Amino acid sequence: MIDNLGKLRADALAQLAPIWDEAALEEWRVKYLGRKGAVSASMEQLGALPKEERGAVGKLANETKNELEAAYATKVGAMKQRALSESLEAEPLDVTLPGRPVLRGRLHPATANLREIYRIWGDMGFQIFRSRQVESDEMNFQLLNIPPNHPARDNWSTFYVADTEQRVLLRTHTSPGQIRAMRQLSQGGTQPVRVILPGMCYRYEQISARYEIQFNQVEGLAVGRNVTFADLKGTLTEFARRMFGERPVRFYGDHFPFTEPSAQMDVQCIICDGAGCAMCKYTGFLEILGAGMVHPQVLRNGGYDPAEWSGFAFGMGPERIAILKHGIEDIRYFWANDLRFLEQF
Ligand code: PHE
Repeated sequence: MIDNLGKLRADALAQLAPIWDEAALEEWRVKYLGRKGAVSASMEQLGALPKEERGAVGKLANETKNELEAAYATKVGAMKQRALSESLEAEPLDVTLPGRPVLRGRLHPATANLREIYRIWGDMGFQIFRSRQVESDEMNFQLLNIPPNHPARDNWSTFYVADTEQRVLLRTHTSPGQIRAMRQLSQGGTQPVRVILPGMCYRYEQISARYEIQFNQVEGLAVGRNVTFADLKGTLTEFARRMFGERPVRFYGDHFPFTEPSAQMDVQCIICDGAGCAMCKYTGFLEILGAGMVHPQVLRNGGYDPAEWSGFAFGMGPERIAILKHGIEDIRYFWANDLRFLEQF
């Protein structure tokens, strides 16, 4: 039996050596290692041996089996390797050929600009409050002191979604979010609120180089027990410093129905540094945002008692800011998806 195993092992290895094709290899495997192969057959004969021999012979049979299995695995690897070298020889590979460039994605300039604005306000303690794009006339106008048929509505040409009793519309500015933020965050007018409200706004405009029918706004709202116009000026001046660097800003009187007093903030022209150019219409300054102290009635609509609470609000157009910052001459580039424009950022 021991001799038989030795012979089996020698025969098997000798037959395996010259094999280089898969069919012959499979035949070899079935013949020696298969369930009815030579190795299994000799295992089965173990039972017939006298007890004293069984241990030693069994051990040898196992070793033979392991050795043949290892030889088989080595052969499989060697055959794969040989097939690879053969195919490489057949079609040579030029490893010096430069690879195909992988196109890298990047942020849309409007998104990048928005995120920079979020970061600055975030650093200054303002949280993002998301409000809806489809609004009621009540939120978008009435609760902001703009009753039906009020002439101020002309400032916000409006897309109406459904002409039901509630006059559902696409928000024309992010200011209705002020009411929602106050109602949701102030716990019935007992807690201060400090948020920015970013998002898409829509206006029924003739599209041109200066006007789009959709654009982002970033609204800001800070309500507290002692918020003053000095807080508004200081906070917005600091924002301008972080966004545009060290340059002069100036505040102008303005009018919005939902703030009193209202102001507009200008920053020294980024293109000409105040010398005067086409972008700033030779004034040396660019208008950046509208702002003001939240009107007492608007505070009341948000759930606050205006005798004890005050606040400031502001609204800016990030696309407009990007236009000023990069000297972009046409606002339509933002949603045109023209790669020649987008790839410049
Ligand atoms: N909502 C105003 C607009 O769209 C901007 C604004 C916001 C002004 C907040 C004052 C305070 O023009």
